[in-house]
Amino acid sequence: MDEARIPRHIAIIMDGNGRWAKKRLMPRSAGHRAGMKRMIGLSEHIFDRGVRCCTLFALSTENLSRSKEELDGLFALLREYFPENAEILRAKNITLRVIGDRSLLPADVVQVIEAGEKRTEGGTRGTLVLAIGYGGRQDILSAVNKAVRAGKEVTMEEFSSMLSEGDLPDPDLLIRTGRELRISNFLLWQAAYSELYFTDVLFPDFSDKELDKAIEAFSHRERRFGKA
Ligand code: FPP
Repeated sequence: MDEARIPRHIAIIMDGNGRWAKKRLMPRSAGHRAGMKRMIGLSEHIFDRGVRCCTLFALSTENLSRSKEELDGLFALLREYFPENAEILRAKNITLRVIGDRSLLPADVVQVIEAGEKRTEGGTRGTLVLAIGYGGRQDILSAVNKAVRAGKEVTMEEFSSMLSEGDLPDPDLLIRTGRELRISNFLLWQAAYSELYFTDVLFPDFSDKELDKAIEAFSHRERRFGKA
């Protein structure tokens, strides 16, 4: 495919783990484990397709009000898989970064995250961003407060650079799996001109082939950024 037709930055709302498990009469935790495994496989495939940057919405600020049991399960998965995943990414020369409010996460999970970020620092092939305890509105509010503290009016570019992904290009393609048709407080500012792709496929079933289908659909979109 023509390189200009490959999105530079793909963002994915990974939804449907719970329903995937329910369909199989399994606990929600089994859905999250399957989602975690798929997330690792998919993040390798994305960079093999020539994408430079990928942001995965793992846990929103609002998701943090789910039951203690479900959250403990998700944090346990992070402890179990994060170091191994960081190693895979390091071997592939990909930088791993986490965005979101770390004060909302258990201290040892933050340590695991920071070790993974350090391990992959400087990877030049691409950047994988995991959004954990992240909210788009919270991100914008925090940038507003930075601007207020700076004590002067800011330009659009200056403001963009104050957001969590300030040094990365905006997502070209925003995918949501699991049938719902909404953005759910993901990269609100950055997704202003993202091409949207919704699929009924539940995240653990979102195969490499499904991702290729989304990239193919993107390649046929005409992007005008509001111009005639
Ligand atoms: C949404 O599915 C998914 C999540 C809230 C978590 C996504 C997590 C992963 C892909 C696993 C790896 C990430 C972490 C943080 C361990 P849902 O549970 O809302 O599914 P449902 O809408 O079918 O109930």
